[in-house]
Amino acid sequence: MSGLLALRGAGLGFVADPFVVPPAEAVVHHTDALLLIREGRIAGFGPADRLLRELPPGTPVDRFPGGLMVPGFIDCHVHFAQLGIIGVCGPSLLDWLDRFTFPEEQRFADEAYARMVARLFLREIARYGTTTAAVFGTVHAGATDALFEEAAGSGLRIIAGKSLMDRQAPEALRDTAQSGYDDSRRLIERWHGRGRLGYAVTPRFAATSSPAQHETVVALRREFPDLWLQSHLSETLDEVAWIRSLYPRCRDYVDVLDQAGQLGPRAIHGHGIHLSERERERIAETGTALAHCPTSNLFLGSGLFDLAAAKAPGRAIAVGLATDVGAGTSLSMLRTMAAAYEVSRLRGHPVTPVQALWLATGGAAGALGLGDRVGNLRSGLDADVVVLDPSPMPLLAWRAARAADLDEWLGAVQTLGDDRAIAAVFAAGRRLPPPV
Ligand code: GUN
Ligand code: ZN
Repeated sequence: MSGLLALRGAGLGFVADPFVVPPAEAVVHHTDALLLIREGRIAGFGPADRLLRELPPGTPVDRFPGGLMVPGFIDCHVHFAQLGIIGVCGPSLLDWLDRFTFPEEQRFADEAYARMVARLFLREIARYGTTTAAVFGTVHAGATDALFEEAAGSGLRIIAGKSLMDRQAPEALRDTAQSGYDDSRRLIERWHGRGRLGYAVTPRFAATSSPAQHETVVALRREFPDLWLQSHLSETLDEVAWIRSLYPRCRDYVDVLDQAGQLGPRAIHGHGIHLSERERERIAETGTALAHCPTSNLFLGSGLFDLAAAKAPGRAIAVGLATDVGAGTSLSMLRTMAAAYEVSRLRGHPVTPVQALWLATGGAAGALGLGDRVGNLRSGLDADVVVLDPSPMPLLAWRAARAADLDEWLGAVQTLGDDRAIAAVFAAGRRLPPPV
């Protein structure tokens, strides 16, 4: 046995960023492709007629006729502890946090509850084709520990962290600068870099951390330079006004994060809707990434992310797509791609289907500093693969069959598709879901 596995079907990978070169030139598309997997990594991707000739005899081949292999999806910002409040509506972000989010998150002091929700979360995202996710935990170290324990056996690449919040939150959801630091450190030592797991220092947002807590974030990033940092930035106008009142000496929201040492590579901030040109420039020049969360922004009425401004020539902020459940309304990255299109349309610069797919794969990988590990069908990357197949959905099957080209086919799948259009998911070469 060569330890090789082959997947056969149509396949789509990227050779360039479709926000930099015309989308049609950014992709490599084979109508009959072979994707080779060895030891969890991609060992080859190309036309089947060429690769079949070199395939050692006896290599197992999984066939997906009618399917399109694409890179596994990446959700750059999601709260596993908010599954229980999806679809609960409040008049604004801050009210939604107070009335629904914080009470639900208090339940995560109970580790058994946290573990049950973590399992559901991991099983669901895998079913929807998400093979990498950056996940917010609650303030409770035990809940994040349970998430990591469950993730360790899932095959998925999970970056997560316990939320740091030592003020402006209910007593039961507050840590202290010291306990937040100690808990984070313990979780980092236990989980960061173990298998496919990584740790993100997670100051929830600037309102909920004191200056002393901000200092611990800097200390952790200094002690462990390859950590991620995840937080929220400039989501609603009320929130922006509140942050400015809390930090009167800072020139704007981005300056708050700048002075707190929360910008730079591997820092990814959710939303970034109400930004000035100065703030965007600073985000770009520091190599900070943004997580675009369109279903969340529509659900809470937070605003319309200006993707074209983030991608302005010469600026090119790294942007990854994200569900932001539970403000987001679906764990499905297909549904999230459709929402990204709708938001970009309202902004006057509609993304193409290939660009939307990039935001959920290669672009997201770049935003997380993981472009050399995931997000594409390229030799050497982790074998994270989603097979899209319209056939179980009668209307989508009919609509997709009429598509004149790949772009139209992808657009139909993004517009109509959901978990039923996900025929198979491979994470690090292993087909999911694993047995429960
Ligand atoms: N800002 C601070 N916390 C949160 C959260 O949990 N969800 C969203 N959407 N925004 C936030
Ligand atoms: Zn969020």
